[in-house]
Amino acid sequence: MGDVAVLKQHLIDPEICIRCNSCEAACPSGAITHDDNNYVVNAGACDFGMSCLPVCPTGAIDNWRLVPSSQAYSIEQQFGWTELPAELSPELLASQGVPEEMLAAPPEATSAEAGPTPASAVTTRLNAHVPPWSAAHPYVSLYGPRAREPWIEATVAGNVRVTNRGSDYDTHHVVLDFGARPFPVLEGQSIGILPPGADDKGRPHHARQYSVASARTGERSGFNNLSLTIKRVLEDHQGRPVRGVASNYMCDLEVGDKVRVTGPFGATFLMPNHPRSNIVMICTGTGSAPMRAMTEWRRRLHKSGRFEGGKLMLFFGARSPEELPYFGPLKNLPRDLLDVNLAFSRVTGQPKRYVQDVMRERAADLAPLLGSPDTAIFVCGLRGMEEGVIAALRDIAIASGLDWDALGTALRDEGRIHFETY
Ligand code: A2P
Repeated sequence: MGDVAVLKQHLIDPEICIRCNSCEAACPSGAITHDDNNYVVNAGACDFGMSCLPVCPTGAIDNWRLVPSSQAYSIEQQFGWTELPAELSPELLASQGVPEEMLAAPPEATSAEAGPTPASAVTTRLNAHVPPWSAAHPYVSLYGPRAREPWIEATVAGNVRVTNRGSDYDTHHVVLDFGARPFPVLEGQSIGILPPGADDKGRPHHARQYSVASARTGERSGFNNLSLTIKRVLEDHQGRPVRGVASNYMCDLEVGDKVRVTGPFGATFLMPNHPRSNIVMICTGTGSAPMRAMTEWRRRLHKSGRFEGGKLMLFFGARSPEELPYFGPLKNLPRDLLDVNLAFSRVTGQPKRYVQDVMRERAADLAPLLGSPDTAIFVCGLRGMEEGVIAALRDIAIASGLDWDALGTALRDEGRIHFETY
């Protein structure tokens, strides 16, 4: 048998992956894709750029298998996996014609033909892979398939609806209590929820990721609990009817019910903690969860009178006031704590407004924040808003005489701009 080429194939561990989409959004070559079941890597398109590695909150992304190039696992095979295949032994590879020297240092795959640049590439370049310098140190993956315990059981301590009306827009604030078990989280981190039961192929449901909506000291200060903001999913992005497994399970929970939780996850989307640090928060829908968490932590510090926070500016987009989670509580926050800017897109008789439109209207106040090295920017919510938000930031910076390229690089390298979109 003649020598065959070997590939160090990049794969995603379906057991650990929380389907947060960070890797797909970060991959500039479009090699990562997903179906309802798994996130997978197209071996023919992966150019080993490694942009996906630092953004993965769980480490599921960092898996590799040596395979004869002609037998690379297809994306269809990967869609069906519930776990990674075993490593092929050197003996097996050698028996298939892979020369010994290639087993020691296999060449990387050649990149596929360069296709069009995906829309998310611009975010990839801007999204920081490090936290702000003064962020607190997060604990990650204390519970999960590769941790000492596969999950931690939490008890539902509360479940209230936080949107006003409309059966098609039902968002809940769910409080989970961990009793005497450790589950430390920081604002900006997320957790995994393991819905009970199995999918239509009989496989146990994989974990779904939700951002924590409460401050580090608990939803109720001093309690070992946290909150989540969960929208009941009844249709997909194209408006076709689907019933979201985890979101419907969570929205229907009753106080006292037990829930299996993994995590915490995320080590970069974390707030700065130094005095006089500013935070610009831009979100839509349930993307408000980390913004609520950060605001609440600052509110507690502010109330203590012992912390001099900088400015907090929030840009929050929703279809209408009725569909904006936490609309009531938001209106009651003191203006000197949080500068709230709402953008409604579907209010009868009013023009459609998106977060980026309101950012432009507030350019005079945003520009000094953009120019300050003490400002961190967080964007969470609809994927579609990334482009418009970046364009608004760029235009505001340039109009105020800032060098956008230098500013973008500094924001990214100093962990001061973070995107979490879906
Ligand atoms: P739209 O009325 O055009 O859908 P959702 O309710 O689907 O979670 O969306 C939250 C808000 O984000 C809505 O007001 C929605 O407006 C808005 N939105 C949709 N696309 C964009 C975009 N490209 N940039 C900013 N906001 C957007």
